[in-house]
Amino acid sequence: MSEVGLLSNNSAKLILNQTSQNILQLPVQETLDYFKSFGILLFRGFGVNYEQMKVFAEKFSSRFVLDKDRPIVDPRNKFVTLVDPGMHYVSPHCENANSPFRPDVIWFCCGVPASQGGETLFWDGVRVWEELDQELRQLLIAKKIKFCQKFPAADWKRFLGVGATLADVKRTLNGIPGLSYKINDDQSVSIEYVCSAVVKTKYGHQDAFANSLIAEYKNPRGVVTFADDSPIPATVINQIQQVMNKLTEVIPWQAGDLVMIDNSRFLHGRRSFTDTKRRIYSLLSYLK
Ligand SMILES: [Fe+2]
Repeated sequence: MSEVGLLSNNSAKLILNQTSQNILQLPVQETLDYFKSFGILLFRGFGVNYEQMKVFAEKFSSRFVLDKDRPIVDPRNKFVTLVDPGMHYVSPHCENANSPFRPDVIWFCCGVPASQGGETLFWDGVRVWEELDQELRQLLIAKKIKFCQKFPAADWKRFLGVGATLADVKRTLNGIPGLSYKINDDQSVSIEYVCSAVVKTKYGHQDAFANSLIAEYKNPRGVVTFADDSPIPATVINQIQQVMNKLTEVIPWQAGDLVMIDNSRFLHGRRSFTDTKRRIYSLLSYLK
């Protein structure tokens, strides 16, 4: 294994290439062990491009999922996408955690960093949970949250595959705990997903504030309430935000960097930027 170390003041584990190794030569089990204990790995110096990201990710993954909003970069690599469109700040969230289809891992690789800004931000949900005050934690344990979303037919066909039918939608959505759905006349599908803001991490089974509450609350198109439809008070959001502001960490992108994030524990977001040349690619997967 290449030399490993921590970025200063950063909980991401840095795996640095000092022997001109190809990323595909890294030992899988050892890498996985690091991933399980740190939850976020930054591979630097391997000059990873998005094709290699996919091949490397395949060693750990049972399957990939496609994000509905993101542009595909290469028809031969249909799960690799650009990150969220636009150049704006992205609030903390776990990927697809406003639905029952939260992938285990989000992979990012950097083609071109922004000349200024555009860093990926991340938060350790275990630390966020530990830092929230007792009263707020009690509230979030006692009251689940509800996310509402509507998927036009084009969106669920992208998610389920071209040629998917309403029968496939029903097969996919029936029997999922916390989920209810309605098929509308125009074949769009409305879903309501009730879940806890505090989840157990996939590795270590620790409590983590790992969810999409803040991002959906801030999203003008997002609808999030408590499970009983009562509004989430702005004071609650502000308190969480204050704690998170103190725990924000940064990926200072260099071209060829690869990042692997445990989506059951870490939230991520990004700083705004203006550089149109910035290229960060992403991939979502479930682990083997
Ligand atoms: Fe994201």
